Amino acid sequence: MKKKMHFLAFAQHGVINHAIAMWAHPRDKVGYDYARPEFWQDLGRLLERGRFDAIFLADELAPYNVYKGDVDISIRYAAQCPVHDPATLVPVIALATKHLGIGITLSTTFEHPYTLCRRLSTLDHLTDGRVGWNIVTSYSSSEFQAMGVTDVIPREERYARLEEFMEVSYQLWDSWAPDAIVADAETALYADPSKVKKVAHEGRYFRCHGPSFVRHSPQGRPVLWQAGSSAQGRDFAARHAEAVFNIQPTAETMRAYTDDIRRRAHAHGRDPESVRIFFGLQIVLGETRESAEEKLAAFKAKIPLDGALAKLSGDIGFDFSKLDLDADIGDIEVPGIRGQFDAIMAANGGKPVTVRQAAEIYGMSLGAPVLVGTASDVADQMETLFEAGGHDGYMIMATYMPGCFQEFVEDVVPLLQARGLYRTDYTGRTLREHLSER
Ligand SMILES: Cc1cc2nc3c(=O)[nH]c(=O)nc-3n(C[C@H](O)[C@H](O)[C@H](O)COP(=O)(O)O)c2cc1C
Repeated sequence: MKKKMHFLAFAQHGVINHAIAMWAHPRDKVGYDYARPEFWQDLGRLLERGRFDAIFLADELAPYNVYKGDVDISIRYAAQCPVHDPATLVPVIALATKHLGIGITLSTTFEHPYTLCRRLSTLDHLTDGRVGWNIVTSYSSSEFQAMGVTDVIPREERYARLEEFMEVSYQLWDSWAPDAIVADAETALYADPSKVKKVAHEGRYFRCHGPSFVRHSPQGRPVLWQAGSSAQGRDFAARHAEAVFNIQPTAETMRAYTDDIRRRAHAHGRDPESVRIFFGLQIVLGETRESAEEKLAAFKAKIPLDGALAKLSGDIGFDFSKLDLDADIGDIEVPGIRGQFDAIMAANGGKPVTVRQAAEIYGMSLGAPVLVGTASDVADQMETLFEAGGHDGYMIMATYMPGCFQEFVEDVVPLLQARGLYRTDYTGRTLREHLSER
């Protein structure tokens, strides 16, 4: 029996996903408005037909304003702007699907664990156990400014606060025992209070007293995801995450990341395989290799460099307008996503990267590998990377939507199924069960 791949679909509740200017492609969202439920419901059905573990919704709480010190370029080129609330999509997608997991990004920085856990547990009920939480701490200055917090909390402290956030969250999720609900109509006894633990937390960052307001949910707690890439981020993932998502441009860097996460998980006393590792992958399909290459070239020609640099500057936390387009990036400080900076450097095979090259790489795929060719070429490349990288699956990154997922589901998925590399049906019900399938 071959180890099987798992797939997630990388999306954002916005006009584009991650490839800049894709909204302007003639095949993007034909007949759809991303702000309406139909788009998400049809996408959910499509992904479920492709037996994806989940749709994964990235999020930011405010438009990036690092590039040229302003939001205007982000707005002009829809560089991750506008972005609507991801949590609201969960019931919308759940109502149109039966198996597909729905992972949402929620930041811990401006919320109390009590409200955030309540929302996630409610969503776990509404989806009958299909919700996942991508745990982020917010790193972008614009998010802090939008919330009226003047100083971005430094990485060290963000992770210290997050650790305590998790401590409170586990207690809240364990508050109601699974058998606390008695529902005896004769005596009108609904729930047994002795089976509802009251949280009593007095910590450095949080105070929380009282039971959770939500009864035990189908999964008990959402599936915990993480995408941190600094040493602190990886350690956090190794302690808490059931799945991690990362961008690594080559088989070698994938293997190094996988080995590192598994080693850290082992050091924390966990089964290293219990952390599911996903890498981003963008796929450009054609009937022939030539037509696929032409398609990619046309995508790239559409990317406005300024738009890509607005996204890159926001993700990294460095204003790239300060450098000449043909200057090497060199060694800059990275208050934002450390791993994304490393991914760009590695994407050019370790050779120096100019600002222009970085924008081109980033504007297309955020530094993730772009697999180009016929469906069978792509299946071959996926298999080769899968054997070399030691990971569990891929986060498929969109080009035009939903067409790119439709092509993938119709053309590549059957090939992987025929090779015994991918499930032909779901065997579980909850998101946790999908992920744990081998
Ligand atoms: C591929 C990838 C995707 C991410 N997506 C999000 C996101 O949607 N929202 C967010 O606030 N942070 C996102 N992050 C940021 C991380 O989860 C993390 O908060 C950030 O990288 C800072 O932590 P680090 O220093 O450990 O990398 C992403 C990171 C990576 C590598």
